[in-house]
Amino acid sequence: MKLAIGADHGGWELKQYIIDLLKKNGVIEVSDYGTSGPNSVDYPDYGKKVAEAVSNGVVDRGILICGTGIGMSIVANRFPKVRAALCHDHFTAKMSRQHNDANVLVMGERVLGKGVAGEIVQTWIETAFEGGRHQLRLDKIGQLVPQK
Ligand code: RB5
Repeated sequence: MKLAIGADHGGWELKQYIIDLLKKNGVIEVSDYGTSGPNSVDYPDYGKKVAEAVSNGVVDRGILICGTGIGMSIVANRFPKVRAALCHDHFTAKMSRQHNDANVLVMGERVLGKGVAGEIVQTWIETAFEGGRHQLRLDKIGQLVPQK
């Protein structure tokens, strides 16, 4: 699996922790799209990089982290074929895959501890989409008029 990860200054420390975690996993090829330090940046710039990579099929999945996860969610969901889910725990991570086939995981560094964030990533990577009635609902989302 190819995965792109990005963050703003509110999420870069957790991003580094998650990259190390994913590298230990071995099965996942991780590309770091920045930012990589505490200097203030704008989350739309980094959300766009990762969401575009998922939208264009350059990577299979993306992970985005900002302070709350809210800004990155708003950005990522503007891109075609991106289904970004802001997850706070094991349950929301599991459901975002089983029911929503989320291809971008969003987290808030100022909301989560590292232990919970690691568990969210692990669950989100390992859980499969259930398809069936959930696919029909995703098809309906695909038919919605794009936002201007
Ligand atoms: C940056 O201070 C903060 O606004 C950003 O990381 C994020 O939480 C936005 O939604």
